[in-house]
Amino acid sequence: MMENKRKLILDCDPGTDDSVCIMMALTHPDVELLAITAESGNLPSDKTAANALRILEHLGRTDIPVAQGMLHPLVREYPKDPYCHGEDGLGNHFFPEPVTKVIDRFPANVIIDEVMKYPGEVSLVCTAPLTNVAMAIMMKPEIVPLIKEIYHIGGSYGFTDYAFTNATGDNPMSEWNVYVDPEAAKIVYESGVNITTIGLDVAFNPEAVNLSDETLEQIRRIGNPQAKYALEIIDYIDKNNSIEEQGIYINGPIDTTAMCSFLCPDMLTTKEIKVAVDTGSRLTRGMTIWDRRDHFRWENLHTIRSAVSIDSDMYQKVFVEALGNAAGES
Ligand code: BDR
Ligand code: CA
Repeated sequence: MMENKRKLILDCDPGTDDSVCIMMALTHPDVELLAITAESGNLPSDKTAANALRILEHLGRTDIPVAQGMLHPLVREYPKDPYCHGEDGLGNHFFPEPVTKVIDRFPANVIIDEVMKYPGEVSLVCTAPLTNVAMAIMMKPEIVPLIKEIYHIGGSYGFTDYAFTNATGDNPMSEWNVYVDPEAAKIVYESGVNITTIGLDVAFNPEAVNLSDETLEQIRRIGNPQAKYALEIIDYIDKNNSIEEQGIYINGPIDTTAMCSFLCPDMLTTKEIKVAVDTGSRLTRGMTIWDRRDHFRWENLHTIRSAVSIDSDMYQKVFVEALGNAAGES
C-alpha cells in the first residue's frame, strides 16, 4: 500500500461500467477518492447521481461526496443513448432508492476547489461526457496546469477498426461520451490539460479487453460484494453486446480501461496526435478527427495523447486487483 494515496475525482455517469469503476476506486488501497461528480450521459444527471449514491450505500461508503451536474450538455438537448445500461442504468440491479443525498455544490466547483487545494496532485478519471470538466476549466482556467492528469474514455480515432465497428455514439463515426457533449470535449481537449484519451479503438476492442475465463474465475474467488457485482455487470454486458450469429463476443466494461490505466499507466501504449472534435453535422457529430497526414497536416490542431493499444494481460491483472486482491483479500 502506498503511503501517500493518489487523489482522485471520478467524473462519471453510472452506467454499468462506470459503477464498476466506482467500486474499484473505493477498493484499491492506493486511491483516495475525493468526490464523485455525476454527468448527464448514459442517463440524465439526477439518475446518474442517484446511481452513484446507490453504489456508495451498497458498499457502506457514504462518506464520499457526490455532486450532480447539469441535466443536459453545455449547449444541446440531452440525446438518446443507443447503448443499453438496463432500465435502472445499473444492469437491472434495481438497488433501493438511496437514502443519502447529493451535496449542495456543483461539480465544477468541487473540481476547482479540490485542484486548488491540492495543486498538481489531483487526477481525474472521466468516464462520461466532459460537461463538468469543461465548465470547471471555463470558470477557472488556472486549474489546467494544476490538474495532475485526466484519463478520459472518449473518441474513436482509427487506430483499430473497432473505433468505428463498435461506435457507441448515435451516428456511424462517434463515441458516446464525445457525441453527447462535443463542445465540452472540444474545450477540454483544446485546453492543454494533461489528458490521455482512451477511444473505442482500445476501450471496446474485444481482442484486448474481453475478460478471460481465467480472469473471471479469479474475480469469483475474491468473493466480496464488489467482485460479485462486477461479475453480474460483465454478464449483463456479454448478454447485451455480443452478437452470437456473427461470432462477436464482448464482455469488457468499457470504462474500466480508464480506471485500470490510471492505476497502472504502463498498460497503455499512447501516441501524441493532432485532433479536432466535430461539433457539426448529424452524421459526424462528436467524431474525433485525427489528422494523420504526412503532408499538409493542419498543425494548428491541438495535440492530445491517445491510447493506441492496451496490454491485455496487465489490464486483466489490475482489474482483479482493483476489486479486492490488492487489499490482500482472496
Ligand atoms: C461510453 O459510453 C457509455 O455507454 C459507457 O459508459 C462509456 O463511458 C463508451 O462510449
Ligand atoms: Ca460511462
